[in-house]
Amino acid sequence: MIVTIDGVAASGKSSVSGGVARALGIPYVSSGLLYRAATLLGLDAGLDLGDPGALLAHLSTHPVRLEPLAEGNRVWQADRELTDDLHSTRVDKGVSVVAAHPQVRAWVDDQLRALPEPFVAEGRDMGTAVFPHAQHKFYLTASARIRAQRRAKERPDDIPDIEAALIRRDELDANQIAPAADAQVLDTGPMTLDEVITTILRAVRA
Ligand code: CDP
Repeated sequence: MIVTIDGVAASGKSSVSGGVARALGIPYVSSGLLYRAATLLGLDAGLDLGDPGALLAHLSTHPVRLEPLAEGNRVWQADRELTDDLHSTRVDKGVSVVAAHPQVRAWVDDQLRALPEPFVAEGRDMGTAVFPHAQHKFYLTASARIRAQRRAKERPDDIPDIEAALIRRDELDANQIAPAADAQVLDTGPMTLDEVITTILRAVRA
């Protein structure tokens, strides 16, 4: 069984996916962390993020491993843990450019498709491009202001700056973001985290 939870930036995908996965007793996998890891390694190596050949060559000699733990995904490059460095403002800024390269998308998709079922997969295109055959699909939205207020708890920047950056990233990600025709769309704006998790669990268990 595969449950997909897609949605716009800071719509609560990771917290919701973690909660759903824990309740079901299965792992969840954050595809965004792999895009973020590719971005971080590219930045650290001083690569041009617009050059997919250079990025892929670097990733092939510096393999990344995603540990899909239900209590929080962790990402490793050899024995260096990248997890805590993946949500910086510089990675936020570069990641959409990296994620737009079809070669990078294939690098992520291959890793996701190698995972043994069951699992919850979260990202932008889990229910469309990567796991179109998933049994349960959800798509999370919320207004840019509400998303910025939520993300302000995780970033040092001001809410208006975070909101502007989120809107910019939504625009850059537009090719990757569209709800699957068979996804249940949830506006999480007026909902608590627990309400979103409960709504999804009810649908999955029905
Ligand atoms: O939670 P947030 O949306 O901020 O970040 P994320 O899910 O970690 O995704 C980070 C970035 O990775 C997105 O802005 C997209 O550029 C890219 N991404 C993607 O293209 N496709 C996915 N399935 C997941 C993430």
